[in-house]
Amino acid sequence: MLNMLRRPQVTAAMLAEGLAGLGLDGTQHAIVHASLRSFGQVEGGAVALLEELRRHTATLSAPAFTYATLLRSPTSSVYASFARDTRVSRDIGRVPQLMVEQADALRSFHPALSFVAIGKQARAIVEAQSLESPYGPIGALYDLDAVALLLGVDHSSNTTLHYGEYLAGVPLLTRYVPLGGNVVPTAFPNCSADFENIAPYVQGKQVTVGRAQLGAYRVRDLVDGVRTFLAAHPEGMLCTYPTCRCQEVRRLIRAEGLRPRTHSGLLGTSGLPELTSRVS
Ligand SMILES: CC(C)(COP(=O)(O)OP(=O)(O)OC[C@H]1O[C@@H](n2cnc3c(N)ncnc32)[C@H](O)[C@@H]1OP(=O)(O)O)[C@@H](O)C(=O)NCCC(=O)NCCS
Ligand SMILES: [Zn+2]
Repeated sequence: MLNMLRRPQVTAAMLAEGLAGLGLDGTQHAIVHASLRSFGQVEGGAVALLEELRRHTATLSAPAFTYATLLRSPTSSVYASFARDTRVSRDIGRVPQLMVEQADALRSFHPALSFVAIGKQARAIVEAQSLESPYGPIGALYDLDAVALLLGVDHSSNTTLHYGEYLAGVPLLTRYVPLGGNVVPTAFPNCSADFENIAPYVQGKQVTVGRAQLGAYRVRDLVDGVRTFLAAHPEGMLCTYPTCRCQEVRRLIRAEGLRPRTHSGLLGTSGLPELTSRVS
């Protein structure tokens, strides 16, 4: 009985083996989404996981979202402001919070949808963001041929897919954030609760470490997979929960259709990238 309750011990060596199994050899740029708990008991916790992630990547980035700053209307009361060290929302996780705590980490400016990045291409990633294109850092990762790592989480945590929606032309909603003493509008997407719908259409590498399933996907395959999928199923990424903002996006799609947008990846590059994957 005690044995059944005991959580498996995951060591740094097991993490290293798993990341190498995903094809990471220290030269790749990556965006990570992680559930620490999913592994079982990790020796050294988030610190050990971050250390192995850093050893196996040239650049490591992650969403570092802070939803407390998000406002529904320009006249809503402002309860929270944003600064470089503002705590990452709990549902984004311990690993991105630990990344923000690193002295060499850069964080993008967006008060609600900031990204954190460490390493070689960190600056290019955090600078590729705007209020109109909050997921712009994914455009930079696209140009860098980065990998999206899903560590014990599924596509409902896969931020990269939002950039695919952006290029495909899914209507964006408007929310507001406090910035520089003002309250300013920002584009804001549908939710990601049903993003597993894309799973049959995108291929990645999978390994198991402890109890966790780890996946690695090329950002290009994800983004292009979404573009192709949505061209055939424009509402295919939206959830069906009646009170979710996804239903507002659904109404807009039915009224206006999809209006594809221009890729703006690393600064200075633009133009819609050629599709590199196809949905059968
Ligand atoms: C929501 C989410 C963060 C929850 O995962 P989680 O494993 O419970 O949370 P974290 O990764 O923050 O890890 C903290 C938890 O790990 C557990 N933990 C603590 N030490 C641990 C250790 N040494 N080994 C294993 N687990 C440990 C604890 O249960 C802790 O939760 P607690 O602080 O409430 O006790 C995760 O499911 C997820 O979705 N991550 C990706 C988020 C993302 O990138 N979203 C993109 C938005 S589109
Ligand atoms: Zn939804």
